[in-house]
Amino acid sequence: MKNPAPSLFTVTVLAACGAGQEPGENSRIPDQGSINPDNWPKQESVLVRDAEMEKRIADLLARMTLEEKVGQLMQADISTVTPDQVRDFNLGAVLNGGGSAPGGDNRTTPDKWLALADEFWRASTDTSDGGVGIPVIWGTDAVHGHSNVLGATLFPHNIGLGMANDPDLLYEIGRVTALEVRVTGLDWTFAPTVAIARNDRWGRTYESYSEDPNLVAAYAVRMVEGLQGAVGTDEFLDATRVLASPKHFVGDGATTNGRDQGDAAITESELRDIHAAGYPPAILAGAQTVMASYNSFRGRKMHGDKTMLTDILVGRMGFDGFVIGDWNGHGQVDGCSNTTCPASLNAGLDMFMAPDSWDKIYASTLAAVQSGEISMARVDEAVSRILRVKMRAGVFEAGLPSLRPYAGEFDLLGSSEHKAVARDAVRKSLVLLKNEDGLLPLLPDMNVLVAGDGAHNIGKQAGGWTLNWQGTGNLNEHFPNGTSIFDGLKEALEAGGGTAVLSEDGSYTEAPDVAIVVFGEDPYAEFEGDRPSVEYAPGDGLEILQRLKASGIPAVSVFLSGRPLWANPEINASQAFVAAWLPGSEGSGIADVLVGNADGSPRFDFRGRLSFSWPNTAADAELNVGDDDYNPLFAFGDGLGFEDDGAVAMLPEEPGRPDEIPKGLILANGDPAGIWRILAIDAAGFNWIANSRGASGNGSVRVVQGGRNKQTDTMTATWTGDATIAVTGPATDFTRQDNGDMALRLEYRVHSVGDAVVQIGMGSGPDKSGFVDVTKRLVEQNGGDWQTGYIPLSCFEDAGQDMTSVSNPLIIKAGAGLVLQLGSAELLAHPGDAGCAL
Ligand code: BGC
Ligand code: BGC
Repeated sequence: MKNPAPSLFTVTVLAACGAGQEPGENSRIPDQGSINPDNWPKQESVLVRDAEMEKRIADLLARMTLEEKVGQLMQADISTVTPDQVRDFNLGAVLNGGGSAPGGDNRTTPDKWLALADEFWRASTDTSDGGVGIPVIWGTDAVHGHSNVLGATLFPHNIGLGMANDPDLLYEIGRVTALEVRVTGLDWTFAPTVAIARNDRWGRTYESYSEDPNLVAAYAVRMVEGLQGAVGTDEFLDATRVLASPKHFVGDGATTNGRDQGDAAITESELRDIHAAGYPPAILAGAQTVMASYNSFRGRKMHGDKTMLTDILVGRMGFDGFVIGDWNGHGQVDGCSNTTCPASLNAGLDMFMAPDSWDKIYASTLAAVQSGEISMARVDEAVSRILRVKMRAGVFEAGLPSLRPYAGEFDLLGSSEHKAVARDAVRKSLVLLKNEDGLLPLLPDMNVLVAGDGAHNIGKQAGGWTLNWQGTGNLNEHFPNGTSIFDGLKEALEAGGGTAVLSEDGSYTEAPDVAIVVFGEDPYAEFEGDRPSVEYAPGDGLEILQRLKASGIPAVSVFLSGRPLWANPEINASQAFVAAWLPGSEGSGIADVLVGNADGSPRFDFRGRLSFSWPNTAADAELNVGDDDYNPLFAFGDGLGFEDDGAVAMLPEEPGRPDEIPKGLILANGDPAGIWRILAIDAAGFNWIANSRGASGNGSVRVVQGGRNKQTDTMTATWTGDATIAVTGPATDFTRQDNGDMALRLEYRVHSVGDAVVQIGMGSGPDKSGFVDVTKRLVEQNGGDWQTGYIPLSCFEDAGQDMTSVSNPLIIKAGAGLVLQLGSAELLAHPGDAGCAL
């Protein structure tokens, strides 16, 4: 191929802040994040080590074999481990990932959870093989209530709780959640998330209480106290409480472009003052475990960061529990894979979350201790930390899970007392953004049309991390104790002499007095929720609202979402607009606020105030209180009460995308981002690749979504002849990135190279390109795990590329034999030592 990619776009687009770069990104220093622990405030542990307990730990350690010790460092997922294996390998812990449940059935009955907990416990304490028999502990994502278990009380997701600005409410929620976890015999929840989401494109924004570190810090304390009981009181880790795990340490909400598991290209003080804010107070509140984060800080993955995990978390913050990894998070550390990672343990991780990789990482860890790559002292230290937490939690004395207090009291799951706490939380989380002519509160004798696909849909109102990982496919019948938003409205209106008619599409035969339209985002979790902008898409709800408006029927929008979203057309078409976030199982809490008393007075006023700034345009993803050029549509702290003037002037309906989407993001989750598109080209011609699928003219390169490991957020390209894949778009000036010594960063996996010669380049149409040869590196990495590679922009420039005008920011030229899986491509700061070879 002579012409690497047709230059189909000739317009030169120069964004005001410099094409292709993130706001502020240019000034960040690519130094692999040198951090000085002395810059971090020092606090002492609140938990005085008990001499008796220390003796007991030392005694156990002395009796444990190396194999038993290494077993304690492993947490396996219940879908890939049997009780027999827990016994044979002396595993320290098990978990149920979002996708796992007893018998593989996410909607199984609660007694099955308890029965399985008994099985694991019995196996772990079986000493017939001569071992010491340390009780296993079971961790779960009880992140908005005991959310994996059928019938449990489901609270609003953290973002909604943030709106309530009520730390004591968090204590109550923690207390109730812990008790419901106890009912099923489990020991530990991977909560609270104390991320401070600063870019709302991030799919986990809803797991964050606020963009404001102070609010998150206050919440972290009360949530940990609710879950574990307050330190220094009898309730601390008593039979009603579970272990907590503030997560994800640290910088998960700081990643560039809000990309899940991405890189936090921020300064040390931003990391400390904003993103780490929840940890010191959570640790003072006695948090017994902390989960390491997937993200990196300026190129270095947290799971391998000794400065952060040991010098700061333990040394400065006084953390005296154990550090748990995230789901195969160790596998992303440089030089590691899911199945081997001494670097992580050496950095200060105490327990690997090795869901499906536990047996292999057990073996490789054992070998690394035997070879001296991991010291015995480090192993003893990690095991001691795990044993200490288990002792504090009382698991050595607690006995069989089903015989512990509250275990098996299944009536407590979704009990009326617990539901009342959740319903109260729902009321307090609602934020009123528009209320023209005082439409709300509604009179209880009104005839109300209830429309929208969220109106009678508990699965949608509960969001991700509900019964299964993504929270998808859940029907009302899967929430035996829950109420939909419609259920609550019907009850309130009928009690007041009015009516509620459910009509999902908003059609009616008799004109109602008013309509309530419930719509918004469908459930997602983690990276599945990463978005290219903060535009509300697909935008359902609008059509119903506009129809109602045209017919003169006043409409109230109840907007379900995991983040603030640009929804100006929807706001314009509504007379009242309520941001309801992801309220959970108690939909009735919404009617409590929307429907007032017969005399027109409210039953409950709106108490929610924005803990996240609301975007002015679809490009306002990184919009946070305190920004220099802060210009939100609704500011942090905004939110109306019934007494306020609720008029909102007509809002502009141009979303402001996609040009504002950073041009430096080239591929995200296997798809071209923003202005970019992908072409597959060979001697016979070219085709666009859409939805990560397609082929070049004569099929010399074919692209499929996902690939060998079925990871859907990637694409896999297979070459059977000479062909090129080129990302293409408007000519863009990358000189500032080039001067800033940035690099093209690729996340990829090499499945085969064959005899292919592989070149990666940038271009601006025919004969204007610069390539570097990466064949050697790909051959080395052939068959291995995911790789993150960098090619400094200067390498392309040296090879002839003109950086003032780049219309192909990524070109891959290869021949038969290459099979390459691609995740993301981005212009970013690179680690200090990046050469040109990837
Ligand atoms: C998530 C964690 C979660 C863990 C176990 C990971 O992928 O990042 O938040 O606790 O899985 O489900
Ligand atoms: C699990 C989640 C986990 C995720 C990690 C899923 O299969 O169910 O718990 O967080 O993988 O990517």
